Amino acid sequence: MSSVGPSQDANAPSGGISWPAQAIRAAVVSSLPDFTVEVLPEIDSTNTELMRRARAGQMAPVLLLAEQQTAGRGRLGRDWQSQRGESLTFSLGLPLAPADWSGLSLAVGISVAESLHPDIRLKWPNDLWLSDARGERKLAGILIETASFGELRYVVIGVGLNIRPQGGAGLATPPGWLQELLPGVDAPQALARVAALLVQAVRAFEALGFAPFQARFNARDVLRDREVSVSDGQGGVTRGSAHGVTDTGALLVHTKAGMQQITSSEVSVRPLPGRADPSA
Ligand code: BTN
Repeated sequence: MSSVGPSQDANAPSGGISWPAQAIRAAVVSSLPDFTVEVLPEIDSTNTELMRRARAGQMAPVLLLAEQQTAGRGRLGRDWQSQRGESLTFSLGLPLAPADWSGLSLAVGISVAESLHPDIRLKWPNDLWLSDARGERKLAGILIETASFGELRYVVIGVGLNIRPQGGAGLATPPGWLQELLPGVDAPQALARVAALLVQAVRAFEALGFAPFQARFNARDVLRDREVSVSDGQGGVTRGSAHGVTDTGALLVHTKAGMQQITSSEVSVRPLPGRADPSA
């Protein structure tokens, strides 16, 4: 294990990879003095570990990165699989007190996408996609979990980002990888681009809510003006056309019953095949 906290002054090398832990901490401490960066060679899941620590009373702001997860988790109870050196897998844990939590996962996606490349698209509510002549591929996923401890609400924001070519067996959406857009980029470089700006975005969300992020989401929205199906996970499926997000991050879907605002993170929204993305 390697960590960079108040009394340390080095990058965090682990398993031969050199991580920009000190630079990230230096960029964040002026606004979050007790922020630390920690790199582990292996853990079950960075989200699971930060929640374990929070239950044990450790709730200081931390970015925990794992070079390998053995039980990575995705949304809706799915697994998240990644191989050492092929992906970037980390979680940001901190106490947070926004007036309204709606849209946090979208704000996280916007921050990560904007830090990396103008061509990265967002798929409501938690995914970063590539969408071009080669088709649509999932580049990254976000898993946000919260827990209350008395008055305090602790949030864990997990990000899994494909860096190098990935196999796609069994995946509903084929994978894309960052090197398609940034040839030669590696996981430490990707982390250096996203980490401090992500902390900044989360704190901006805490202060201002989702409204300042709305236009930025809509500019990258991969579902916009497309036919979609909305599944509630209980067998219920609704079809409609997607029309961007509201100032609280709800997805607007025009259905036979009129305009609906989709808010639940338990629903899954998929573009319907057969219509090309007009902006691709
Ligand atoms: C999804 O697309 O379903 C979300 C995937 C989130 C994966 C990341 S990897 C780091 C963090 N730890 C986990 O176990 N999951 C998140």
